[in-house]
Amino acid sequence: MAHIRTELPGPKARALIARDAAVTTPSYPRDYPFVMSHGRGTEVWDVDGNRFLDFEAGIAVCATGHAHPAVVAAVKAAADDFLHISSDFWHERMTALAERLVRLAPLGEPALAFLCQSGTEAVEGALKLARYVTRRPRFIGFLGAFHGRTMGSLAFTSSKYTQQLGFAPTMPGVTHVPYPNPYRPLFAGADQGKAVLDYMRLLFERSVPPSEVAAIVVEPIQGEGGYLVPPEGFLAGLRALADEHGILLVFDEVQCGAGRTGRMFACEHWGVHPDIVTLAKGLGSGVPIGAVIAKRRLMEQWKRGAHGNTFGGNPLACAAAIATLDLVEREYAALAAKNGAYFKERLQTLARRFPCIGEVRGKGLMIGMELIVPGPERAPAKALCDALVTRAFHNGLLLLSCGTSTVRFMPPLNVSVAEIDEALALLERSLGEALQGSHA
Ligand SMILES: Cc1ncc(COP(=O)(O)O)c(C=O)c1O
Repeated sequence: MAHIRTELPGPKARALIARDAAVTTPSYPRDYPFVMSHGRGTEVWDVDGNRFLDFEAGIAVCATGHAHPAVVAAVKAAADDFLHISSDFWHERMTALAERLVRLAPLGEPALAFLCQSGTEAVEGALKLARYVTRRPRFIGFLGAFHGRTMGSLAFTSSKYTQQLGFAPTMPGVTHVPYPNPYRPLFAGADQGKAVLDYMRLLFERSVPPSEVAAIVVEPIQGEGGYLVPPEGFLAGLRALADEHGILLVFDEVQCGAGRTGRMFACEHWGVHPDIVTLAKGLGSGVPIGAVIAKRRLMEQWKRGAHGNTFGGNPLACAAAIATLDLVEREYAALAAKNGAYFKERLQTLARRFPCIGEVRGKGLMIGMELIVPGPERAPAKALCDALVTRAFHNGLLLLSCGTSTVRFMPPLNVSVAEIDEALALLERSLGEALQGSHA
């Protein structure tokens, strides 16, 4: 099917980008000139009438696809009632969402929820709660992590140093350790998860007093750092290490949560309970919302006024999140598991024909395809990855990268098999073109 009917960017897109450049910060990391007009499900159209398949879903946000009728209806109904009252007061949608979140939370014991507006705000809430209840100053984070761009979460973010450059000092007290990556082992031995845990034990003996560590903050599947799935036993090992030292375990599920991996929370794949979990992105299908969910015995220690916000529990955001969770719980998490398995298998088949595809990994509809320069060193093929994302755009497929040279696939959870097949055809064409370009 013809997707693209103008040059890209088309004339209307070009005009808007020029207008925007005069008034908008240049700091947004915009990879290619897509100017949205509207979207339905996995399909989006730009202002020049070109149609694209959206396999990045607004950076893993549009969990139920663009403009899902049930989500739109819920937001419209909420807007008809009122737009805002603030978290200083009560309303039914806010309580209903908190009830839903504490019921779903993978904490293994009673929980409480704090609502906010974004991933970074959720992470800040988790950090503040961990500090508050432990009265400890230090934290452990992971290289390759992304937790946000405010001064607390930024102290952990380390997927690219551009996010850090020029902003020091961020929140003090964070020590980074490697995230286990069996495809690119840093340590000797087959079990990279165990090696990282051993490294952390050494760190605790030699440099970081564990009695001063409030929390270990980790993505159960590392997102921006390359869609890395931890080895079996790693998250359980972190849980045990944390328990040994009275350290809290924070799972940042901002990207991997809300059904993305085929389970409501990614950590459910390993049956490991954190003390605190963060959500955002997919939770509101595009309406900004974040959440911190913590064990009740921790969050109930917060005194009145210890933490709060203006927009937390916004009725439009709560309505969108409740409608999203209805769909994800009833149907879409299971769909993500089923269609994600199909998609991953098709990508693995493609990998057998293209030696530049080093590894295909992921769970559900959180799938990474790492591109390499073929050979024993598996050198990351960054230029090829960038070229592929650009060629895909020109062929009508929206993608984003992560890590050094990994293309990530994070379509809406209700993407159809026909759309996956269509995307695979566009991907293969784009990869062929990118490879040709890289040899030219
Ligand atoms: C795991 C994780 N945590 C936190 C964030 C920050 O979320 P936000 O951009 O909504 O502040 C992100 C964003 O990509 C993320 O992937």
